[in-house]
Amino acid sequence: MIEKCFFGNITDEGNSIPVCSYTITSPDRKIEAMVCEYGARLLRLRVSVGGEMRDVVRGFDDLDSYRNADGYFGAIVGRFGNRICRGRFSLDENQYYLYCNDGEHHLHGGKKGFDKKVWSSSEGKDGLSVVFSTVSPDGEEGYPGTLNVSVTYSLTAEEGLKISYEAHTDKKTVIGLTNHAYFNLAGEGYVGDHTVIIDADRYLPTDKGLIPTGELRSVGGTAFDFCSGKKISEALDSNDEDIRIGGGVDHCFVFTVDGDREKSRVTVFSPASDLRMDVFTDRPCVQFYTGNFLGDEKFPFRGGIPQKRRHAFCLETEGMPDAINHKNFINCTLSIGDVWKTETEYRFTAL
Ligand code: GLA
Repeated sequence: MIEKCFFGNITDEGNSIPVCSYTITSPDRKIEAMVCEYGARLLRLRVSVGGEMRDVVRGFDDLDSYRNADGYFGAIVGRFGNRICRGRFSLDENQYYLYCNDGEHHLHGGKKGFDKKVWSSSEGKDGLSVVFSTVSPDGEEGYPGTLNVSVTYSLTAEEGLKISYEAHTDKKTVIGLTNHAYFNLAGEGYVGDHTVIIDADRYLPTDKGLIPTGELRSVGGTAFDFCSGKKISEALDSNDEDIRIGGGVDHCFVFTVDGDREKSRVTVFSPASDLRMDVFTDRPCVQFYTGNFLGDEKFPFRGGIPQKRRHAFCLETEGMPDAINHKNFINCTLSIGDVWKTETEYRFTAL
């Protein structure tokens, strides 16, 4: 079941653009997702726990907060999620310069990334999905090629929210779309008490600007070893040098290469262990970000809950940040005639 509503107006270059939201509810009413056209964004995700609907994604009450608050709340980020060093790269002998919006680096698509666009939308015929699409012109934010993108949010039979991405270009380009939802499986509070398992045997250490150094380091014996599960606070409270440099966990975890792609790559348990979230994806990595930059008091979360540092975390499935500038990183280019197609599902089980 889908309910479409008016969510607010955006004023862009003097034009007022109406923005619609959609609430998708599963037939058994155990999961409900609210998405909107501004940033093709996940606004809210409610799942049934102990007979009540719990809101497990942090966001705001109104469109203006989504427009003005930093943090890419629930948005689709792109064209390239995460950072590109100094916004520079070369492709087929051409040098490209992207907009640098994160100090001296490019982050999450630039000044007006996909999170700030009003996307076109339509309801899927199954009554359980919403499709967003947009066209990014050649040269936008400095990226080569006209990029046609569609992103579909669908509810699955397993109490999951699946996000499917598709894109094609008319010139060779770089790509890395992801979703920037902030989760809190308790609904609110410090996320340190969540237990996390990540099927990743390597991670990418970074410099102070959160740009990967180029090394793929084994998680063994480091704070980044979540292979058999541990509380987030264990990593945050450790003396690990990379945690210190990154201001917390804000790193690319590289999934175990011979791992089973049909299995959950990341599992998270709520502090009370009454809810489990599993992440299924065909992407090779995940950016696990512990909300280290949260805490802007001007933008309280939905329902007046204060916005506090580390009161939500992101699991942004991805390739490797700054991959285009590292020969040993996973390819992030898209050629003419190829379709960039990928899927991530966040699945919930009440315990
Ligand atoms: C990503 C980055 C973080 C931060 C957030 C947005 O997750 O890795 O460093 O920039 O986006 O606040």
